[in-house]
Amino acid sequence: MSHYSDLAIHGGRPVRSGKWPGWPISSARTVDNLQSVLDSGRWSISGPYRGTPSFEQQFARGYASYTGARHCVPASSGTSSLTMALEGCEVGARDEVIVPAVSWVASASAVLGINAVPVLTDVDPRTGCLDPAALEDAITPRCRAITVVHLGSAVADLHGLLRVAQRHGVPLIEDCAQAHGAHYDGQHVGTFGRAGTFSMQHSKLLTSGEGGAVITDDDELARRLEHLRADGRTLSGEPPPIDQMELSETAEVMGSNYCLSEFHAAVLLAQLEKLDAENAARRRSAQYLDDLLRQLGCEPQATADATTSRAYYCYVVALPDEVLLHTSVQRFAQALSVELSLSCKPMYASLNDSRLYRPETRRRFALDAEFIEAVRPQRFELPAATEFARRSIALPHRFLLAETSDMLDVQRAMEKVLAHARRL
Ligand SMILES: Cc1ncc(COP(=O)(O)O)c(C=O)c1O
Repeated sequence: MSHYSDLAIHGGRPVRSGKWPGWPISSARTVDNLQSVLDSGRWSISGPYRGTPSFEQQFARGYASYTGARHCVPASSGTSSLTMALEGCEVGARDEVIVPAVSWVASASAVLGINAVPVLTDVDPRTGCLDPAALEDAITPRCRAITVVHLGSAVADLHGLLRVAQRHGVPLIEDCAQAHGAHYDGQHVGTFGRAGTFSMQHSKLLTSGEGGAVITDDDELARRLEHLRADGRTLSGEPPPIDQMELSETAEVMGSNYCLSEFHAAVLLAQLEKLDAENAARRRSAQYLDDLLRQLGCEPQATADATTSRAYYCYVVALPDEVLLHTSVQRFAQALSVELSLSCKPMYASLNDSRLYRPETRRRFALDAEFIEAVRPQRFELPAATEFARRSIALPHRFLLAETSDMLDVQRAMEKVLAHARRL
């Protein structure tokens, strides 16, 4: 039992007042790379060729090699990466796309953005990731793609999901926005489906503030992705004369401007060097913390059996049922945040109950009565996702980069808030 009498949220002394590591963390290489871009006279792949490979292409090659994919097409965000992957797989207006019910809103809004219909589908209650049995029930003949999210620190049951996808002849797109460096059956996530998409937004394990990428082994899809990201232009194999544009107007597919700038690519190239060491440190802390929190009756997020290495985008843990008789995850997370000087949040609400997922607020989605009903989030019943959200809180990954012994502070803070849950 904690010796602190009062919760910090009520004015008592917090368990921890010291700082946690910050995020993001740059390196000398990050600074050097940024300076090189500034000096280069080329700030985008659409700028003139200056005699050296663009950072965008250096990152594309580096990230393809890191993940083991044949191709990587960098992009401006995780949302544009999802958009490109969907359109690359020829998904379009009124097609159905399976979207797991527990995710950041972008997993569903990217589908809506191409005028397709997100079919919110229930999750495995232990991992929060798309459930193969629920997928089987949700697939209809109108389904043109399945998206799966590797959520928090979990990898989805890819073997089970691929079996269903293959039986129905529907491509699987892996949304790996939260899973840079995670492996399943010895292979990097994102290489199991037709395409894998990544976000490099500020909070992500590999970040340049904003950014994204799509990986694939499919040569034809890679070519479509290149067109989609640069207004129908592609990079030719041979460099052009100095000061000429490297992109040429091949125009096989009409595209949009989803290009990653040279600044972002330069940062990503440097940050990639640190990713494995950071992920290993996070894993060590998380494994230790799992044991500490199980002692308190909490249930850390599980991952699919064939996971070979987890990547902790956030540390997700389900609270004991008896505590949730007295308080909500919202209130618990607030109290824990003050004890730890760390912003802890409830895990995402199920997308049929998300404040942010509101297709009815955008006129572009009001195509006709049938479409409005098809995309209405509340038409879906998602009991496992609702239960996952009711029980789970998420801690941001930066605290896992502290010393392993600092995890004892997290255990103490959880123990204290659990003990005082009735008074929250
Ligand atoms: C699972 C998931 N998909 C997609 C996205 C969208 O990425 P971005 O914010 O870079 O557009 C995010 C971002 O948080 C995410 O977590």
